[in-house]
Amino acid sequence: MVNRKRSMCSSGWLQKHFKDQYVKAAHRQKLRSRSWFKLDAINRMDALFSTGMTVIDLGSAPGGWTLYVKNKIGRTGRIVACDILSMCNISGVNFLQGDCSNPNIFKILCTWLGQKQVNVVLSDMSPNTTGISIIDVSRSIYLGNLALNICRSVLMRRGTFLVKVFQGKGLDKYLCDVHSLFNIVRIRKPDASRSHSREVYIVAKERK
Ligand SMILES: C[S@@+](CC[C@H](N)C(=O)[O-])C[C@H]1O[C@@H](n2cnc3c(N)ncnc32)[C@H](O)[C@@H]1O
Repeated sequence: MVNRKRSMCSSGWLQKHFKDQYVKAAHRQKLRSRSWFKLDAINRMDALFSTGMTVIDLGSAPGGWTLYVKNKIGRTGRIVACDILSMCNISGVNFLQGDCSNPNIFKILCTWLGQKQVNVVLSDMSPNTTGISIIDVSRSIYLGNLALNICRSVLMRRGTFLVKVFQGKGLDKYLCDVHSLFNIVRIRKPDASRSHSREVYIVAKERK
């Protein structure tokens, strides 16, 4: 009974997914993910990127954001991307497969950056969701904290941070922590982010 209910839910999800205008547009434009539209909307509002920047992309697979950033920062820019999952190669991008909470993975990431100053840290990392909001929110905030710690270690002064987190218990404290590291903090919910989804994006600028 439970399994039948679950499979009905997932087939309903699939139907909705394929009707979604952003899924269709991503398919038409041969983009790697519908998340591309979220980053595009945020970037139009907050102007995150410019030519020659160095960017870290956490939770990068399948690579929608990575390709978006690559186009914005051009040949002189540098991207280091990281995900637990594998990602098809993008020329000019250093991709590291691993869990960014693993100190060894972080060490490699730093080695790849060398002496480069990091202008922007992006995190679109999502936990595997359980449907139990208290668990999903706390896992999302945990990932947000990982990304914030990476900012503390490598993001240059006046640098920018964009992070996805789920709304719920712990978000207020997380926002305070972001505020303590950045002068400007804004919350964004782009159109491509499903209205029933708990996710929001925090844009933090001017690292102190
Ligand atoms: C929504 S997807 C990212 C989509 C991507 N921004 C794009 O446009 O293609 C979230 C990703 O976060 C990754 N992720 C979750 N926890 C992670 C961790 N601890 N370290 C690295 N990646 C992680 C997942 O494997 C998943 O691929």
